[in-house]
Amino acid sequence: AAENGLAGWLRYAPIPGAERYRAQLPSHIVALNATATSPVYVAGQELEKGLQGIFGKQCTVHHAHGHWGAAPQVVVGTVDEYTKAYGALADAPELIEDGFWLSTKGQTVQILGQNERGALYGAFEYLSMLAQGNVTEVAYATNPAAPVRWTNEWNNMDGSIERGYAGASIFFANGVVVANMTRAAEYARLLSSIRINAVVINNVNANATLLSTQNIEGIGRVADVMRPYGIQVGISLYFASPTSAVQGQQNLTTFDPLDPSVVTWWTNVTEKIYERVPDMAGYLVKANSEGQPGPITYNRTLAEGANLFAKALQPHGGLVLFRAFVYNPINESVWKNDRANAAVDFFQPLDGEFDDNVVIQIKYGPIDFQVREPASPLFAAIPKSNVAIELQITPEYLGQQCHHVYLPPLWKTVLDFDLRKDNESSLVRDIITGKRFNKKLGGSAGVVNVGTNQTWLGSHLSMSNLYAYGRLAWNPSDDSTVMLQDWTRLTFGLNPSVIDTMVQFSLETWPAYENYSGNLGIQTLTDILYTHFGPNPQSQDNNTWGQWTRADGTQIGMDRTIGNGTGFSGQYPPEIAAMYDNLASTPDNLLLWFHHVNYTTVLKNGATVIQDFYDQHYAGAATAQTFVGMWQSLQGKIDTERFTDQLFRQVFQAGHSIVWRDAIVNFYHNLSGIPDEAKRVGSH
Ligand code: GCU
Repeated sequence: AAENGLAGWLRYAPIPGAERYRAQLPSHIVALNATATSPVYVAGQELEKGLQGIFGKQCTVHHAHGHWGAAPQVVVGTVDEYTKAYGALADAPELIEDGFWLSTKGQTVQILGQNERGALYGAFEYLSMLAQGNVTEVAYATNPAAPVRWTNEWNNMDGSIERGYAGASIFFANGVVVANMTRAAEYARLLSSIRINAVVINNVNANATLLSTQNIEGIGRVADVMRPYGIQVGISLYFASPTSAVQGQQNLTTFDPLDPSVVTWWTNVTEKIYERVPDMAGYLVKANSEGQPGPITYNRTLAEGANLFAKALQPHGGLVLFRAFVYNPINESVWKNDRANAAVDFFQPLDGEFDDNVVIQIKYGPIDFQVREPASPLFAAIPKSNVAIELQITPEYLGQQCHHVYLPPLWKTVLDFDLRKDNESSLVRDIITGKRFNKKLGGSAGVVNVGTNQTWLGSHLSMSNLYAYGRLAWNPSDDSTVMLQDWTRLTFGLNPSVIDTMVQFSLETWPAYENYSGNLGIQTLTDILYTHFGPNPQSQDNNTWGQWTRADGTQIGMDRTIGNGTGFSGQYPPEIAAMYDNLASTPDNLLLWFHHVNYTTVLKNGATVIQDFYDQHYAGAATAQTFVGMWQSLQGKIDTERFTDQLFRQVFQAGHSIVWRDAIVNFYHNLSGIPDEAKRVGSH
């Protein structure tokens, strides 16, 4: 049973009618010129394990080219090694770094990577096909849309996880890297199968003690178990580390990024890390935000701060992922104050000043992982800089594993959004891949926060979000439904009714959650002071975080217009600015994000703002009730353990959606005094 959790979508469960295919399947696996612990070696092992699990087929694994009679074989390796052993490929595929060629035509299955990592991806792809019962002939090449396909794990040194909902850290405990690397290796295996290539193992609110001699050795041990899977390790840095007491490192009196002693300090620490981890991916930096120190502490620019690390990493080939999530506490009594403005205000003036190995990591929306946000305007505002999108797999504001929300449809509202920079097509997905502004670097960072829980994330279903995240990092145009169907087959088997139910249910979860939490672009309306869980609309004003609704007795919404408001809409390129600046052309689902309106303002759908609030909260909670029945229809069609575990969550979600509904509708009913036309709200 534990297998079902830990193995995630890599169960290699037997498929119906497996024996029919056994004869046509390879009986020899050639992991071409693989050295122990290399990705090609791992690919050989996975193929052996997969063919055994899915089909009960015993294979022999070889590590050199040879003659195995007429028996079908699978060859996995790099294109170069293949060419040396077998001669040039007839139709040589166009591959870039990490890409691969997969052909199941003829006697020999070819799985050939541009590099070893690509070969391993290809092996997982082949096994994914087979595990889904697909034994058709295919021959194609595939390449990544972008080189940065990272996860971020907000793990603290004491073993707790910031915004983690699945137990303790698999990397740290009691201030040091854990001794047992089993889970780290298993995680690397899962991530490699979805083509993630780097993991930042500690919290963005970082601690300097990570850089102690002992912990650098620990980072090395994590890197050693992840390397065979083609996964590099990265770390988050605390900007003021030079002035912190760190075992084995010098202690300075300044962390000014332009001070020569500070430059030397970071150069030395970086060299020590690369001595132990020669392929370290790079640094993730949160600076001058939410109380964190940074270059601005010394009146230096964020670019000067980022470049300090870029220069230390450059000789080693590492990247700096510098977070655009920079803002200061602000006062709501000033009408034009707006946290949403912060990223563009800070970063646009610095465009062109970041070194080549810096990537600006931008949260999908301008605030903070809300249930709906417009695409961050920063994607279009720094065309001379490399950028990556930051998505959140751990459902911080979205129910924390007690509600199920399938996230790709939300992410796609941003990835597919056309920012119309220079009045030309400027899809966010084309910007992060570097295509739109001709950048070599770019990609995705996903905040995952897995823990020691046997399900990794805290619930079985939320693994569909991690799976889809990897697929979108490789190909941001991938389809939400197709990814979910694939994940369901791999996770729960091939029963078509299970797949259909899972798709129908999952695709309704995000709209339902939006409706019973915060619709019309008002944000999630969750408690933002402490837990980020459950309704707390009153916490959305009079706070210095700048997550505001500006709701009073007659009006609601943030006026982000150029003329009367905070000017945020003016941060977009002209066509988009015009759309959002104008009430008439702003879509209903972002109306209160951009405009401060009367509760009686009539929406495009014909309802007033307040009536739509009532109606959608009732509709969302009603939909959440139906999830219980949908899930129950799977009884007997999936294993009891996962059925029961998720049923418990769906019953909770159904109940809690009513808590949400009632808290929100009563709050705004009390505030506005406007009755519900359907007479559901208040005393009557
Ligand atoms: C959110 C989250 C914090 C986190 C921050 C960040 O505000 O609640 O826990 O540190 O984002 O992304 O840096």
